[in-house]
Amino acid sequence: MMDDNDWAAFKRKLKAKTDIDLDLYKEPQMKRRIGNLVRRANMDSYAEYFDRVSRDKDEFASFIEYLTINVSEFFRTPEKFGKLETDVIPDLLKRSPKLNIWSAGCSIGAEAYSLAIIMKEMTPGVKHRILATDLDTEIIAKAKRGVYTDNEIKSLAPQRLAKYFDKVEGDKYAIKPEIKNCIEFKHHNLLKDPFENNFDLILCRNVVIYFTEEAKDQLYANFFKALKPGGILFVGATEAILNFRKLGYTSFQPFFYQRPLA
Ligand SMILES: C[S@@+](CC[C@H](N)C(=O)[O-])C[C@H]1O[C@@H](n2cnc3c(N)ncnc32)[C@H](O)[C@@H]1O
Repeated sequence: MMDDNDWAAFKRKLKAKTDIDLDLYKEPQMKRRIGNLVRRANMDSYAEYFDRVSRDKDEFASFIEYLTINVSEFFRTPEKFGKLETDVIPDLLKRSPKLNIWSAGCSIGAEAYSLAIIMKEMTPGVKHRILATDLDTEIIAKAKRGVYTDNEIKSLAPQRLAKYFDKVEGDKYAIKPEIKNCIEFKHHNLLKDPFENNFDLILCRNVVIYFTEEAKDQLYANFFKALKPGGILFVGATEAILNFRKLGYTSFQPFFYQRPLA
């Protein structure tokens, strides 16, 4: 029966196996999404459903993929990426010639590779650091492979596509090693693992949709500490931070928040 005990047992099992703590995610949305899967499998218990998917490695991987919702694409919301090029990165480069950048919740790596392309074009020959992390280890493996579908590259300018990708079998596009080698991929849970610091730029876009308000506040406070003074946090197009002042940030532009210079 899909009752509170069943949900609690499901959460315990998930946390033990994956580190994902559903108490930090919005409960109604998570119950609805997971409930859909349970019913689709013709079952009537979250915990039993979990036991079933746990038995098969591939099925479990697609369950985690569904749970973490990792759709992404290159230059997602192109006009905001444009702001990075015209306003944000030039501001950051005034203070440090080599930037330390973090794509947090990087999914398939498209966000990190988009940044690597921008940095290469803006500062040819300079080696910046771009860290890209995600909770989902399968998706990190995909990000490291760097092979993409038409849909994932649809916002890429044709000349960038031609320059930085090789067409591979089955109408897919593989990112070239010169861009691939710019990224350091790692597994990292934003709601649990310790953060590095000294970042000039942190991107955390389309990751927090199902986080509780408390989890979001804590995350944005942790990002604040992880940024250098003058560093900027870039959030998703529907994720404006309303209480940014309380958290210590100033607004650089809509969707870009700055840790004030000391
Ligand atoms: C929709 S994708 C966003 C990808 C990219 N940032 C973008 O905007 O296109 C959300 C990603 O957040 C990751 N994620 C969800 N919860 C997380 C957590 N607690 N820690 C780290 N990553 C998380 C998911 O695994 C998923 O790959």
